Amino acid sequence: MVKILAIESSCDETAAAVITDGYRLMSNVVASQIPTHRLYGGVVPEIASRQHLDAVVPVVRQALEEAGLTAAELDAVAVTQGPGLIGSLLVGVSYGKALAFAAGKPLIAVHHLAGHMSAPFLEHPELQFPYLALVVSGSHSGVALAEAPGRYRLLGQSRDDAAGEAFDKIARALGLPYPGGPAIQEMAARGQAIYDFPCAWLGDSYDFSFSGLKSAVLNFLNKARMKGEEYRIEDVAASAQEAIVRVLAEKACRAAGEYGMDTIVLAGGVASNQALRDRVEELAGGRRVIYPSPQYCTDNAAMIGAAALAKYAAGEFADMTLNAEANLPLYFYVQ
Ligand code: KG4
Ligand code: ZN
Repeated sequence: MVKILAIESSCDETAAAVITDGYRLMSNVVASQIPTHRLYGGVVPEIASRQHLDAVVPVVRQALEEAGLTAAELDAVAVTQGPGLIGSLLVGVSYGKALAFAAGKPLIAVHHLAGHMSAPFLEHPELQFPYLALVVSGSHSGVALAEAPGRYRLLGQSRDDAAGEAFDKIARALGLPYPGGPAIQEMAARGQAIYDFPCAWLGDSYDFSFSGLKSAVLNFLNKARMKGEEYRIEDVAASAQEAIVRVLAEKACRAAGEYGMDTIVLAGGVASNQALRDRVEELAGGRRVIYPSPQYCTDNAAMIGAAALAKYAAGEFADMTLNAEANLPLYFYVQ
């Protein structure tokens, strides 16, 4: 039975998990920094790396303890190599390398987005390749074909802000707390999408752009405040959410049709958005739609472990020269 310890530290969650064959979790620990960053309205990279430094040892210890294992009993140590905040990534990569070296275990480098796209296997181990993945988080928005384990083809991505970033920035303008996605979802549930905020379709491409929407919402708020016009925050939230969800859902479903994919997987923090889930289901044309539970949508190490299982099986190991990469491209390998 393969036992892999996975470590994730790319943004503001320090996480460790132990996973075994069949995507079975033996432990899954997440230390979130959200309360700290909420004070600043968003993630402060320098603070994030310092908190990872404090958290990484206890979080890994807890994951091993809950799995009832020592490092010597592991088969491999997996770590998120990138993309993400460089200071945050470095903590996980350095610790993972040190642990693998000290315990004499192979090291596995995992792409953060490959991790998000592997999260559905944790609850749906029967999921088959290929599938269409919509990966939408605080730092990335992309449409990808997951063709085989570890083999992903990026069809399109955001040219500016990520979908989660748009939620976060619009929430901030509305005076809502960080992270903005859940706050906007909650407000939107009590509002009506009565404002026609712009959607960037960018022709036939599968790319996204959300900075125009963000500016449109900011302009709307400034104008209304200057003229003393009344508006309900709930309606602005519902309208902004609608503009984001519409583009994401339509592009994902169109890509699934164009590439003949029977399954659409939603991944990343924004995949826990109920309006997005509902809209994709609605437009999926009978295709199977899979999304992880919220704890596997936002950053976690279980998903890094799920991606690492495929790399372990393929014998894809890193060595001690492994370095964190803030802009690591979505890689390709064929087994
Ligand atoms: O995947 P994740 O935890 O971190 C990154 O890799 O970036 O995603 C965090 C993002 C944040 O921008 C947050 O606002 C968004 O996911 N998010 C949501 C919801 N829950 C989290 N966005 C919309 N609706 C939600 N319910
Ligand atoms: Zn993420």
